[in-house]
Amino acid sequence: MTKVLVPDQAGIARAINALLASGLVAFPTETVYGLGAVATNDKAVARVFLAKNRPADNPLIAHVASLADASALVVVDDRARALAEAFWPGPLTLVLPSKMGSPVSRLVTAGLPTLALRVPSHPVARALLTQLGLPVAAPSANRSGRISPTRAEHVVQDLGGLIDLVLDAGGCPVGLESTVIDLSVPIPAILRPGGVPREAIERVIGPLGDVEDSSVKRSPGMMTRHYAPGRPMRLDASSAGPREAFLAFGAVPENRALLVRNLSPSGDLSEAASNLFQMLRELDQAAVEAIAVTSIPGDGLGEAINDRLQRAWPGRRGSST
Ligand code: TXA
Ligand code: MG
Repeated sequence: MTKVLVPDQAGIARAINALLASGLVAFPTETVYGLGAVATNDKAVARVFLAKNRPADNPLIAHVASLADASALVVVDDRARALAEAFWPGPLTLVLPSKMGSPVSRLVTAGLPTLALRVPSHPVARALLTQLGLPVAAPSANRSGRISPTRAEHVVQDLGGLIDLVLDAGGCPVGLESTVIDLSVPIPAILRPGGVPREAIERVIGPLGDVEDSSVKRSPGMMTRHYAPGRPMRLDASSAGPREAFLAFGAVPENRALLVRNLSPSGDLSEAASNLFQMLRELDQAAVEAIAVTSIPGDGLGEAINDRLQRAWPGRRGSST
């Protein structure tokens, strides 16, 4: 049975005990819920891949409490330090060369010479990491190929019975996964757009490179239909028909949709990001033939929002209704 706990001191203490006993604990971060296991424990990390049905060649992000803790695991250069000082704790993941003799399980890195690291800002994640004092490997707490969970209920729907417990802190404020940036190459590149916009990163370390020049290429987890809902999606839709659900942004165009959700009536990209996965889940469960989505600006958080929509149903831009 998967227990759902209030993340007070007693709940966090039970989560720590479960983690130390090679257990799996889903916990809230500011981006999405993570499925945590102690990153130095091969057996626990193996259970993460099993529970998610995740391919073993897709590496995990290790979560730590501070830049100092990160420095024990990876080689931190000036660029990484500048980014960590600007955005940690927060929704940015740095891919850096692992240090010789790193205690992190090779299952976490899928055998790569690099490790992806992040210091989350959510108070529950921070309390957990600080009190545990060990790195926690945590992919998003969904079955592989499904939408990332932004509420404890989503975790239970996907992984109930397969994991030990969930710390329930309600909705995740950012609502999109972290930005993953490869710093193990001469010219850093974004492997996955996310909660920290490209523009903000470039203000700190200058222009970023193209992911195709990166030695890592795209993150293994960035295969196209990664976030797929079950229903077909129609992007850049100017309206919606009678058998469709309609996902809007800003003013809602006239439409005949069965069901309408608005990511942000005022056209605010942060609000849209925090609503995206919850609304996609709702619309995906509705009895509709397809989900029509209005166009969403591509700047700031819009890059990550459009990336997730494209990935949900690639190649369907530009049709008319
Ligand atoms: O916001 C987030 O990042 C959430 C929360 C829980 O922290 N975690 C998350 O993890 O989204 P996951 O496993 O769903 O996505 C991690 C991404 C994958 O695309 C994976 O391929 C990539 O990071 N990644 C991990 N380690 C890597 C490495 N060493 N090199 C390149 N990409 C890596
Ligand atoms: Mg994921």
